[in-house]
Amino acid sequence: MNLNLEGKNVLVVGASKGIGKAIALGFAGERSNVTAVARSGQLLQQLKSEAIELGCNSFNCEVKDIMECDTKAFAKELMQKYGEFDVVVHNVGGSLISRNHLGGQEDWNYALKFNAVAAIDMNSVLIPPMTEKKWGRVIHISSISANMLRGNPLYASAKAFLNAYVTTVGRCLAKDGVVMSAVMPGAVAFEGSYWDNYTRTDPARCEDFLRHHQAINRFGTPKEIADVVLFMASEQASFMPSALIPVDGANM
Ligand SMILES: NC(=O)c1ccc[n+]([C@@H]2O[C@H](COP(=O)([O-])OP(=O)(O)OC[C@H]3O[C@@H](n4cnc5c(N)ncnc54)[C@H](OP(=O)(O)O)[C@@H]3O)[C@@H](O)[C@H]2O)c1
Repeated sequence: MNLNLEGKNVLVVGASKGIGKAIALGFAGERSNVTAVARSGQLLQQLKSEAIELGCNSFNCEVKDIMECDTKAFAKELMQKYGEFDVVVHNVGGSLISRNHLGGQEDWNYALKFNAVAAIDMNSVLIPPMTEKKWGRVIHISSISANMLRGNPLYASAKAFLNAYVTTVGRCLAKDGVVMSAVMPGAVAFEGSYWDNYTRTDPARCEDFLRHHQAINRFGTPKEIADVVLFMASEQASFMPSALIPVDGANM
């Protein structure tokens, strides 16, 4: 299947490692123009070398902490530098936040901003040019935790909020040719990841987790998530606005 992503202007927010890196490299291999955002300039430069080897059309590195900046102004700045984006992937997020379910608004606001609201703020700037030209793809990396509502309550709730945003706002955008979706990974391991470390420190609990919660009985790989993201960025996803897509090895 030809995804026809060559020359598309793609923004990946949270691209320096793990799932985001696999996504950025996926677009690089499709010869898209990629702008990659993360806090680590060193990791982004390494990624750029790998992307160029894969034949990437152009690759821009943007070092930014999206939790510590004016996200709307940052989105405007990105468009001024690199033009309007055809595809935006929001990958920043995670469960390594407060686990205090009785925490106050500081804890909950942080979880919501990290997993959803920073991306939503950027969308308010990045999406209007898409609706104007009647084509765009906005893909949020959510989590199967949003469906299962298990694990860290703040994380699961924030991803559930993100899914509700994608469902409702995705419907508003559908008639304008903008396909907003959420990809919901199950547990994914890669070198240096949470699950990779956990496998080393407590292999028995990891095996137990997989046996009871991930029917496939193994971790997913970043590429298995990235492949679905690339499909959702393509023309082939035209009938899938608001889709919430589990890529989770049959989580249970
Ligand atoms: N791994 C899993 O098992 C799993 C399962 C379900 C869902 N997910 C979701 O998938 C997404 C990626 O997960 P992952 O495991 O690949 O995460 P990760 O290894 O922590 O990578 C996150 C990426 O975002 C960047 N990032 C983090 N904070 C940032 C900030 N404040 N500003 C800018 N960039 C920032 C990181 O780069 P820098 O550190 O260089 O900034 C990195 O490139 C997350 O939304 C997560 O919730 C993951």
